[in-house]
Amino acid sequence: MRRPIVGMSMKIYRNLEIEEAEYCNRIVDLFGDEEGLDLFYCPSLGVLHVAAGILKGSRIELGAQNIAAISEGALTGEYSIQSLIDKNGKYVELGHAERRMTLNESDYLINRKLLLTLENGLIPLLCIGEYVKSSAELRSRHMEEQLAKALLGVGLEQIQNVIIAYEPVWAIGQAVSAEPDYVHESHTIIRSLLCKHYGSDIASQVRIIYGGSVSSENARDLISNVDVDGLFVGRFGHVPEQLFSIISSVREIKLES
Ligand code: PGA
Repeated sequence: MRRPIVGMSMKIYRNLEIEEAEYCNRIVDLFGDEEGLDLFYCPSLGVLHVAAGILKGSRIELGAQNIAAISEGALTGEYSIQSLIDKNGKYVELGHAERRMTLNESDYLINRKLLLTLENGLIPLLCIGEYVKSSAELRSRHMEEQLAKALLGVGLEQIQNVIIAYEPVWAIGQAVSAEPDYVHESHTIIRSLLCKHYGSDIASQVRIIYGGSVSSENARDLISNVDVDGLFVGRFGHVPEQLFSIISSVREIKLES
């Protein structure tokens, strides 16, 4: 049984200590004691320490939107996984389209960061997805390549610690998400790709979540498929009550229906 999970990334929308504290206090009040689902939050890195202090002791785990590919040394301006561990962080977001496109982050680099995350016992959230809306066959080819490169060297005993975030690039930052049927088909494709490489027993243990304009309006439809294990929220989680509503939808569909 895969445990449902909802994550949220603040990207760099909230960067001041005071506004971050306000947001984190509110989400802890609203769903900090959620027991049925796994929850995580990736704050803007500059205020991660604020989020860490407030989330501590709640059921909302801390994540980083990025780490350096080495844990210490000569790498100017990067964020070390050691700092994340020091703050009790559990999740590392990797391969987001914004980093792949604007910062030219390569599959090779993503793979190195992913292996470092696993070595340190943290959970990588690997973002993959096609750039334009496309046929099932093209999607499958594109994601097979992304998975093969990002997961190079990840063995059978480690893959179930990885979470895959399906994020079709064309659906990020939009008014509405990708259509639920299309999303469900993509998740089934991803699971079958994992099956092909790791076997069905292992593939059935890997969580695959959807991200890209998730909102309280579309959460129910998006999550209503056996291969969708959770949601990854961006802008429409900026209002804590809306994020709470998305989490409640996932709980209802996955645990109560
Ligand atoms: P969005 O961001 O919900 O604002 O589209 C999602 C993401 O980029 O993960």
